[in-house]
Amino acid sequence: MRTIIAGNWKMHKDRRAAADLLAEVVSGLRSSPSRVEVIVAPAFPFLEMAAAMVAEEGVRVAAQNCHQEPQGAYTGEVSAAMLHSIGVDHCIVGHSERRQYYGESDDVVGRKVAALVAQGITPIYCCGESLEERDREAQFDVVATQLHAALAGQDHQVYGRLVVAYEPVWAIGTGRTATAAQAQEMHAFIRSELVTVAGEEAHDIPILYGGSCKPENAPELFACTDVNGGLIGGASLEASSFLELVRIAETVMA
Ligand code: PGA
Repeated sequence: MRTIIAGNWKMHKDRRAAADLLAEVVSGLRSSPSRVEVIVAPAFPFLEMAAAMVAEEGVRVAAQNCHQEPQGAYTGEVSAAMLHSIGVDHCIVGHSERRQYYGESDDVVGRKVAALVAQGITPIYCCGESLEERDREAQFDVVATQLHAALAGQDHQVYGRLVVAYEPVWAIGTGRTATAAQAQEMHAFIRSELVTVAGEEAHDIPILYGGSCKPENAPELFACTDVNGGLIGGASLEASSFLELVRIAETVMA
């Protein structure tokens, strides 16, 4: 199984700060090479610069979103083909912040997944329940619905490329983290749902944990059987903590 550490920079860092952070990450990985797949997701304006900076480094670049249509009159949007044309090879889709603030439905997210794979881009599909949903013990229903609504019936090449991230909304940016037992329970559930959606290929789909994952809690989270890495927000904004997470993933999982 692949092990992936992906940094979601969200709407942080200007051009200079993005270049500096990426340069530090690259230099850290040069001095201590890792078998972990490292992905960074800067904001749209810096993707081309990031792709050029890491071209020879084995680091992958992800966008944080794309539009589901191939082209057209969609002011302010960016297509999967545009991302492909500047060297972007991964894209986060269905992040809870997109679902919450921009009303993205599973149907739309599923179409984004298909649009990305048609361009040879790996989608990092995010799912996860809110605090209210967990409190009424609806987390498994919510996540199953998200997975089936967005991923069922996709072309089989989607399942060969897909990465899934479990991001309990109550743990994102809040400092609260799922316990290792909660993470493993949900990741195992996601794996079994993916098998019903995608068949046996689902055993090879990496499932990342996201939600206040930091060097302090990463060892026990990454040690879980069905946790194949992390989608990191806050702790990806400093090279030191991000590189430490790569190192922990390397020792615990690889
Ligand atoms: P966080 O964000 O690590 O800051 O909680 C994770 C994410 O939203 O991907």
